[in-house]
Amino acid sequence: MANDNSVMINVSEMNRHDLFQLRHQPVLRGHFTVPGDKSISHRSMIFGALAEGVTKVKGFLRSEDCLATMNIMRQLGVNIEDDRANGVDEIRVHGVGLHGLKVADKVLDCGNAGTAMRLLSGLLAAQSFESTLVGDESLSVRPMNRVIKPLTTMGADIVSDKGTAPLTFRASSHIQAIDYLSPIASAQVKSAVLLAGLFAEGVTSVAEPKKSRDHTETMLKGFGAEVEVEGLKVSVKGLPKLMAQDIQVPADISSAAFFMVLGLIHPDADFVIENVCVNKTRDGVIHILQAMGGDIVLTNQRQQAGESVADIRVRSSKLKGIYVPHDLIPSAIDEFPVLFVAAAHATGEFKLTGAEELKHKESDRIAVMIDGLKKLGVNCESLADGAVIRGHHNIVLNNACVDGHGDHRCAMSFLVASCLQPGTDISVKGCHNIATSFPDFFELMKGLSVDTQSITPVITIDGPSGVGKGTTSALVAKALGWHLLDSGAIYRAMALKAIGEGLMPDDEAALKVAAEGIDLRFEVTFDSEIAVFLDGQQVNDQLRTEACGEMASKIAPNKAMRAALLDRQKAFQQAPGLVADGRDMGTVVFQSAPLKVFLTASAEERAKRRHKQLQQKGVDVRIRDLLKDIEARDLRDSSRKVAPLVPADDAHVIDTSDLSIKEVLGQVLALAQKNGLYHGLQS
Ligand code: S3P
Repeated sequence: MANDNSVMINVSEMNRHDLFQLRHQPVLRGHFTVPGDKSISHRSMIFGALAEGVTKVKGFLRSEDCLATMNIMRQLGVNIEDDRANGVDEIRVHGVGLHGLKVADKVLDCGNAGTAMRLLSGLLAAQSFESTLVGDESLSVRPMNRVIKPLTTMGADIVSDKGTAPLTFRASSHIQAIDYLSPIASAQVKSAVLLAGLFAEGVTSVAEPKKSRDHTETMLKGFGAEVEVEGLKVSVKGLPKLMAQDIQVPADISSAAFFMVLGLIHPDADFVIENVCVNKTRDGVIHILQAMGGDIVLTNQRQQAGESVADIRVRSSKLKGIYVPHDLIPSAIDEFPVLFVAAAHATGEFKLTGAEELKHKESDRIAVMIDGLKKLGVNCESLADGAVIRGHHNIVLNNACVDGHGDHRCAMSFLVASCLQPGTDISVKGCHNIATSFPDFFELMKGLSVDTQSITPVITIDGPSGVGKGTTSALVAKALGWHLLDSGAIYRAMALKAIGEGLMPDDEAALKVAAEGIDLRFEVTFDSEIAVFLDGQQVNDQLRTEACGEMASKIAPNKAMRAALLDRQKAFQQAPGLVADGRDMGTVVFQSAPLKVFLTASAEERAKRRHKQLQQKGVDVRIRDLLKDIEARDLRDSSRKVAPLVPADDAHVIDTSDLSIKEVLGQVLALAQKNGLYHGLQS
């Protein structure tokens, strides 16, 4: 499937970026697979460690989440060898037996992985030593009471502030079996209780309102534990002797889901995703997409170490909206972000209710997805426990920069949406956690001939003259070490050229020709000023004259001239980033900029500032006259048809009338920090 003409991209380098844009190719064909199942990979490390003998794992998902579990098991004294460096896909877990774990000398870091934290809670709650689990910012606000409560009932001593991580597990001498009725369908809760139950005498059981994924019970059986499943209730007999297994991890249906949706909404796709785990407790996404009219066919179905595995053929389809049956929610729980993207491309109404759990994932997935889809122009709204999306199979999405909020599945879902919109300018930020579940996502996209591009971020700072945007932009660019585009200087240089050539402000044809041929160059001087060269001459002083400003404002509405200058401005978007100062930076030139700022100030205040500037230069003018000029120019700028001076819908408006430049700079940098573009402010 690899495209020989594709551009080589250093993916590990790309993964450090946060902002991406994808472009698809007209035809998608072939056979490929996706990385190993995340849930099975986590469990292979934990059960392998508790078994006697060496468990060999092939197809392990080497994602940040699963590597966190592997590292924690190592910290607990388990020898785990990974042969990948020798070109062999095998991990060997040297089991220490049920009671062989050792105290760790540090806190145990689960990173972004909820599964690691909840499953390991069950394990650590039952150990005769103390340990502490910590997680990243997202994991540290996710609800942990759902495991703390049953584990405490079993006799565990867990310290947690507000029911969130960090979680400290005090040494435990006596864990008791329970019969737990879980209020939610959660495999993580079920697994935590069953894991603790392994250390209790007697039978521990968990019943849930709906069936959650069953990898724990399947794998425990495979390792030799006595497990019984009766409908929604799973029981395990405590103190088993677990025996090492050979595990072949099949491909993760949750990762395959991105490609299923990509293929269905693509105009000409017909491909097969091979070797995917299609366990009945995980295949909700297939049923939902089929009910939406998706042409998805399972072939070559087989059993592999207790798990159902199949190849999945996906063909372009005209999707329609459906009301998602409640029974399918637990088996598709991780796939709703990408199902929402499918829904945007499905004609009619797609409705999901009864999925409140989505709010407690790596992000509030209902809010994040609906917010992004709205920005892309999709008719949709969130509900207390779901969402309604009214899409169309021919939908054309808006230009926008959408935010995955560091949630891997939301970020990948938006990327799938963006790459099927030729001619639009959609970019996705908040992509930095994709490697938690799918480190090869971009490489695979590239294999499918999807052109992946890491985007240089832009901060646009627009506003009328006299609001301090020139100074603010220069200071922001300096603080971030980014490039600076003073687009006003481009228009003033055009005005200077027009004056020099005696062109009339309404002579569209002549202005277009002049813009196309303008010989303009910018150089950064020693003192961080920008020197502007027009026809080889430095013209900074001429650019600042009132006459030049007046002419710039008069020629500015010229559509053909603006179009001719567009590419010239876009060319400034270079790594590591660009601060673009102007009047239509956020609305026209850089529409998908991740941060847009619009500065305003009262006309009186701007007249005062201009007056002071001119006085310092020895120019004597009356404030009243300046005010009249400013008001006339404001009216002309904001009411013109082409690129009027208005804030972009998603711009942050800052009124600088009563603010010092330092305060304005502080506000812009704080916004940059909030958007993950700047890390320099103290909190
Ligand atoms: C998982 C269970 C699910 C799922 C998560 C992985 C597991 O969470 O969302 O990605 O491996 O047990 P819940 O159990 O909280 O539903």
